[in-house]
Amino acid sequence: MGRRWGWVLAAAVWVAAAAAWAAPPPDHKQLFSGTWFHAPVADDDCTVCHTIHRDPVGPNLQAPVPDLCYGCHENMAARDEVHEPVGEGRCTDCHRVHTSDQRKLLVERVPDLCYGCHPVDKEHVARNTLCTSCHEVHSSDTARFLKGERTRNCGRCHSDKRRGETVHRPAREGKCLMCHFTHPDPRFQNRGLRAGFPRTAYARYEKGAYALCDRCHPPELHADPGFLGTRFRTRTENLHARHVQGERGVTCSECHDVHASDRPALVVPWVRLPEKEPVPMGFIRFSTGGTCGPSCHDTATYVREAPEEELR
Ligand code: HEC
Ligand code: HEC
Ligand code: HEC
Ligand code: HEC
Ligand code: HEC
Ligand code: HEC
Ligand code: HEC
Ligand code: HEC
Ligand code: HEC
Repeated sequence: MGRRWGWVLAAAVWVAAAAAWAAPPPDHKQLFSGTWFHAPVADDDCTVCHTIHRDPVGPNLQAPVPDLCYGCHENMAARDEVHEPVGEGRCTDCHRVHTSDQRKLLVERVPDLCYGCHPVDKEHVARNTLCTSCHEVHSSDTARFLKGERTRNCGRCHSDKRRGETVHRPAREGKCLMCHFTHPDPRFQNRGLRAGFPRTAYARYEKGAYALCDRCHPPELHADPGFLGTRFRTRTENLHARHVQGERGVTCSECHDVHASDRPALVVPWVRLPEKEPVPMGFIRFSTGGTCGPSCHDTATYVREAPEEELR
């Protein structure tokens, strides 16, 4: 159909629509002035969607939305998990039907579109990613419409967190959300950590500071200087407590990469010293103990006891 006929039809649709709704006339310039055109509109193919007959319930559509849309697009409500507005056929909550200044004919750009209905915490999202880099928008076979399997979702961008000879078990199993919140939680702060963990490499020891680790490891590990249930100890002294509670307040992540490492016990290859270049940790583990340094201090060796008395 030629552009001229398009406008004749526009007038017809408009007259009928205006009569039916007794509403103020729509602004045609606005209707068709966007940067992006819906393909049939660009072709001036108005009648694939509109009839020129008067229709009491809408702007003379060939079929109601969303059936109209599904005439040309795959049915988006046919998968296991359907986004509520999609399931209810409210395509026009998010899309313009003729033209738009936003790509994909969106009424607003992502993420503002989503914020309109979801008051999501913006930290992770705003700095890094769009909602649509993690979520499908219409429907999917995964809960929360995540892109990819749930356990792989984070790894799509953070695969380094699972790379290494030793991978911390929850990370290896893709259970990032055991330790991290993701954006929708208003508590997303301090790297989205779900429980206490110091923000800085060195931190004064205080109650609850390692609540995150305490969820799966015994709190005595850092709290009790006499606790012998750790391999990082001498015969009588828990070296975890000594470091963590000591004057410097060495945090777990100074010695351990909490995600993955090529060293035993997730020990880091490099240690970050305040206001200095990182130095090699030089950790060597043997059956009765281990050696570190020289890094924070001169080379130091701990020996637990005779090998046959080892805890594991
Ligand atoms: C892909 C289907 C489709 C095509 C093609 C299409 N329209 Fe529409 N049109 C709609 C839908 C759906 C509505 C109702 C919009 C709503 O409810 O927000 C509508 C509404 C309208 C209205 C009423 C205005 C309003 O704001 O309610 C006019 C006028 C109109 N269309 C004119 C046209 C003209 C002219 C063309 C061809 C250049 C055209 N349309 C092509 C689907 C289409
Ligand atoms: C007559 C067929 C037809 C109907 C009916 C139709 N569309 Fe489309 N639509 C198309 C075509 C063709 C494209 C371009 C597809 C492509 O580029 O892959 C398209 C593209 C789109 C796009 C993507 C635009 C872009 O820039 O990539 C959206 C969003 C869209 N349609 C929404 C709708 C909605 C919502 C409805 C119902 C109100 C609808 N369509 C009805 C034919 C139709
Ligand atoms: C909650 C908002 C929302 C609703 C409701 C919604 N869409 Fe979308 N749609 C989007 C977003 C956002 C995109 C762009 C996705 C992207 O960029 O990856 C999109 C993209 C599309 C595309 C282009 C697909 C592509 O891969 O390029 C089509 C076609 C489409 N939508 C049709 C529809 C139809 C038909 C309905 C109603 C059944 C609908 N949408 C309902 C938000 C929505
Ligand atoms: C028109 C309002 C509206 C818009 C716009 C909208 N949503 Fe939704 N969304 C809903 C409703 C309603 C629900 C179901 C109720 C709920 O769980 O909050 C929902 C649910 C969800 C869920 C699943 C919640 C669950 O518990 O399973 C996700 C994920 C989601 N939306 C993401 C998005 C993204 C991403 C966007 C932007 C592309 C978006 N939404 C835009 C209304 C909207
Ligand atoms: C980094 C990936 C990622 C990004 C970016 C992202 N989401 Fe999510 N979203 C998730 C994951 C993972 C979940 C599931 C969380 C859970 O089950 O604890 C989720 C859950 C949700 C839920 C369900 C509600 C809830 O509290 O579980 C909604 C709604 C939602 N997201 C909306 C959005 C919106 C809106 C945006 C953009 C502003 C967005 N998401 C961006 C990964 C993401
Ligand atoms: C689409 C890519 C993408 C996905 C998927 C993704 N992220 Fe991110 N994430 C990023 C980017 C980009 C950054 C910013 C990196 C930076 O600042 O160095 C980031 C940063 C982070 C941070 C650091 C925040 C801070 O304050 O320093 C955490 C924690 C995080 N992501 C966790 C997750 C978790 C958990 C998931 C899965 C739910 C996830 N990410 C999925 C892209 C992604
Ligand atoms: C056992 C708890 C735990 C698990 C499981 C976990 N993290 Fe973390 N994550 C942390 C802690 C603690 C920090 C902050 C300490 C640090 O910076 O090393 C952190 C920091 C981060 C950061 C920001 C720091 C950086 O390196 O940029 C990202 C990104 C991240 N995690 C992603 C992930 C991803 C992806 C997964 C899943 C594969 C995951 N995390 C699993 C505890 C965890
Ligand atoms: C969700 C549970 C969980 C949380 C939270 C958790 N861990 Fe673990 N961690 C484990 C499990 C399970 C193992 C045992 C792995 C095995 O035996 O294969 C482990 C083992 C370890 C190891 C020894 C790895 C090895 O290969 O010898 C270190 C070091 C460690 N965790 C540090 C931490 C630190 C630091 C935190 C706090 C940031 C923390 N963990 C929080 C579950 C957790
Ligand atoms: C000064 C460095 C250092 C600090 C700080 C540190 N660790 Fe360790 N940790 C080690 C070393 C070294 C090993 C390995 C001991 C061995 O296998 O001989 C270890 C082993 C572990 C193990 C394996 C089981 C065990 O106890 O032997 C866990 C779990 C663990 N650390 C958790 C933590 C947590 C949680 C924190 C913070 C509260 C922390 N570590 C702080 C050096 C440190």
